[in-house]
Amino acid sequence: MASTTEPTTAYVDEIAGSDETGLGSEAAPFKTAIKALEKLGENAKVLIKKDAEGFKDISGAALKKAKKTLVEQQRKAKKLEEQKAKQEEEQKKKAEDEAKALEAAKSIVLTEDSSLPAAKKIKIRQGVESRGQRVKVSGWVHRLRVQGKDMMFVILRDGSGFLQCVLTGKLCHTYDAITLTTESTITVHGVINALPEGKTAPDNHELVVDYWYVVGKAPGGDEAFNNKVTQDADPSYLLDNRHLVLRGETSAAVMKARAEVIKAFRAHYDSRGYTEVTPPCMVQTQVEGGSTLFEFNYYGEKAYLTQSSQLYLETCLPSLGDVFCLAESYRAEKSHTRRHLSEYSHLEAELAFITFDEMLDGLEDLMCDVIDRIMDNAETRKLIEQLNPGFQKPARPFLRMKYADAIQYLKDNDIKKEDGTFYEFGEDIPEAPERAMTDKINRPILLTHFPAEIKAFYMQRCQDDRRLTESVDVLMPGVGEIVGGSMRMYDREELLEAYKKEGIDPAPYYWYTDQRKYGTTPHGGYGLGVERFLAWLLNRYTVRDCSLYPRFTGRCTP
Ligand code: 4AD
Repeated sequence: MASTTEPTTAYVDEIAGSDETGLGSEAAPFKTAIKALEKLGENAKVLIKKDAEGFKDISGAALKKAKKTLVEQQRKAKKLEEQKAKQEEEQKKKAEDEAKALEAAKSIVLTEDSSLPAAKKIKIRQGVESRGQRVKVSGWVHRLRVQGKDMMFVILRDGSGFLQCVLTGKLCHTYDAITLTTESTITVHGVINALPEGKTAPDNHELVVDYWYVVGKAPGGDEAFNNKVTQDADPSYLLDNRHLVLRGETSAAVMKARAEVIKAFRAHYDSRGYTEVTPPCMVQTQVEGGSTLFEFNYYGEKAYLTQSSQLYLETCLPSLGDVFCLAESYRAEKSHTRRHLSEYSHLEAELAFITFDEMLDGLEDLMCDVIDRIMDNAETRKLIEQLNPGFQKPARPFLRMKYADAIQYLKDNDIKKEDGTFYEFGEDIPEAPERAMTDKINRPILLTHFPAEIKAFYMQRCQDDRRLTESVDVLMPGVGEIVGGSMRMYDREELLEAYKKEGIDPAPYYWYTDQRKYGTTPHGGYGLGVERFLAWLLNRYTVRDCSLYPRFTGRCTP
């Protein structure tokens, strides 16, 4: 019988053993002698297996080495533990000190110095003209930099601009100052001073704060704005958080540019004598084919969200003359592309008593005049340069190219379908080849004279070739089609025939057909996708970035 003082036997298999799962038994050996000593005590009898020969007594030298290593390991572990405990103690003390400081900070209350002149409420854009006066500005903390205990820099944002605010001394000691977070709303009082040479801040000035308070605190920690919205986040997550993303400098610049672009379009139409109208979004007719209609139940009747206001614009010509509208159009586009939305801002115009060539001239005039207006405005030009550095106004005249020549161009330039064959006359030129061609030509193109089969039912046919229509797409490098337009059939019989061919019941279109009954005239117009125009102008990868809250397949939130 073995005595109780006899050392335990520890089995070590350097090949098949495991220090993690081993027990030191013959069946479950350790991998190292060190582990064996650690687990079964330094007096353990170690049997070691290094090869196929089986377990043997460990050599004296190997045992000595293992014991030394174990002692060293244990010493290091102890030291680490001590360090950890010390750190924890320090952290605890720091947290306690901070909590105490925060508690103490709660008793620091700022009061406005009543001997100072009353602060005048301004928007940040009024900063330059308000320098030297005491002002009051409210906004969101866009950026925050704390410099020691007695100085804080806040870049304040109010949508009209950015303003550096500097807080010193007691202003930085309050509970709100210590816990201030980005995106909190605050009101600051003080004087805006020009910055000396060499220092930079928005508008080259800063507001020296003498009094301030928090309006609404934004969360810190995991919920903090900067942890929620990061540039490298998943696009779908960013779309879910579009309401927050819009606060970012780039998105805000796009939305500002969008507002200015819309203003320029309106100014253009105003200067050319067009009247703006506001057609309905709920309709009972289609314009651009049944496959992209959004249908809904309208008090028990079938109705749709409008695909285009064109038909309504046509009805305005006899009373208002040339008209335009900016309305939302809706397309149930199943394809996920970078230029398709389910809801988009559609700028449409309609003109009476014109020829096709006059319409093309008008389109070129629209594009160029609007770009001139945008670039002549210093503020807007700055936005364009910020978003699309090196933007050049397109040269006039735009290239005019017939559809048939585009088909030839694709062949000449080896631009093929996915199956390796060429596009043939009569086929629609889809997005990819269209963009490949436009990018290669690298200037705006008025692509005209599409075959009737691939265009909408209402398009006027060419006098000299009845297979073709008086139709146009404006193509821009980087985006492709941004405008679609045409002359309209103005002969009543021809239109009735066109309904039939398209399988459209003419009954709901009675009001549209009547245009051809009560004083018809050659007329035409076009629709411009505002988001596509912006994607081109601002060099955005997708139209989604140019829409406030983009809607596309699978997204109707927020
Ligand atoms: O070429 P489209 O379908 O033409 C019409 O709707 C005409 N009824 C317009 C008219 O003559 N009054 O659309 C016109 C433009 C396109 O060139 C494109 O810029 C934009 O509208 N568009 C879209 N933009 C974003 N997403 C979509 N799903 C779009 N579909 C068309």
